[in-house]
Amino acid sequence: MAITIKSEREIQLMRESCKILAKVHDELGKQIKPGMTTMDINRIGDDLIRSFGCVPNFLDYNGYPASICVSVNEEVVHGIPGKRVINEGDIVSLDAGLIYKGYHSDAARTYAVGQVSKEVQQLMDVTKQAFFEGIKMAKAGNHLFDISNAIDDYVSQFGYGIVRELVGHGIGTHLHEDPQIPNFRQARRGPKLMPGMTLAIEPMINMGRADVEWLDDDWTVVAEDGLPSAHYENTILITDGEPEILTLL
Ligand code: MF3
Ligand code: CO
Repeated sequence: MAITIKSEREIQLMRESCKILAKVHDELGKQIKPGMTTMDINRIGDDLIRSFGCVPNFLDYNGYPASICVSVNEEVVHGIPGKRVINEGDIVSLDAGLIYKGYHSDAARTYAVGQVSKEVQQLMDVTKQAFFEGIKMAKAGNHLFDISNAIDDYVSQFGYGIVRELVGHGIGTHLHEDPQIPNFRQARRGPKLMPGMTLAIEPMINMGRADVEWLDDDWTVVAEDGLPSAHYENTILITDGEPEILTLL
């Protein structure tokens, strides 16, 4: 599939979809508390998405059984909500997405629950900043892998492990469209960025080694060394100038 260029009408729908998702995330961020289960978070997120008249796009995606991915500590992404209780000192990555009038949005945030160590706070800060370093390159005329290289250059200074098995992606009338967007250095330049491309940029960064494995549930991706992992993602729009971050209010 080729990279889709969205029309002005489609861009407007993407903006709406993403703005609603930003609101869902802001509310989830306020609600997350020690003592809740990961399933509680899923229920709140699912209700919020539907309260805006939207549909959760993760639910039933390739058989994924929930609306929000909730990944705790050493879980990297795609944690399946269940009975796990959120404790003080945990970090919790929430990945959510929705469909509004046929258009998908996708974003992730990692939250500290109560006090976390300086080291863990730095991991979260660097993961978020990696996104912003990446999108400094997200300009028409640059190449896609300029984004990947900028993320890698920034994160590597800290000695963290950049997850390689999962990558960012194009997004639009499908959750996952071309192109794939690695968070690590590429030998090639990749396709040229053009106005009207909508992309989900999502660094997944491990405190320790980059290696990950899948749990027996076939979804939950965990850091092999058991150390914490963070995730930060927004859907963006390539324009003639600075990129628009569609999933931030
Ligand atoms: N943001 C996630 C991704 O791009 C969405 C996963 S949907 C799921 O991989 F259903 F696979 F969990
Ligand atoms: Co994504």
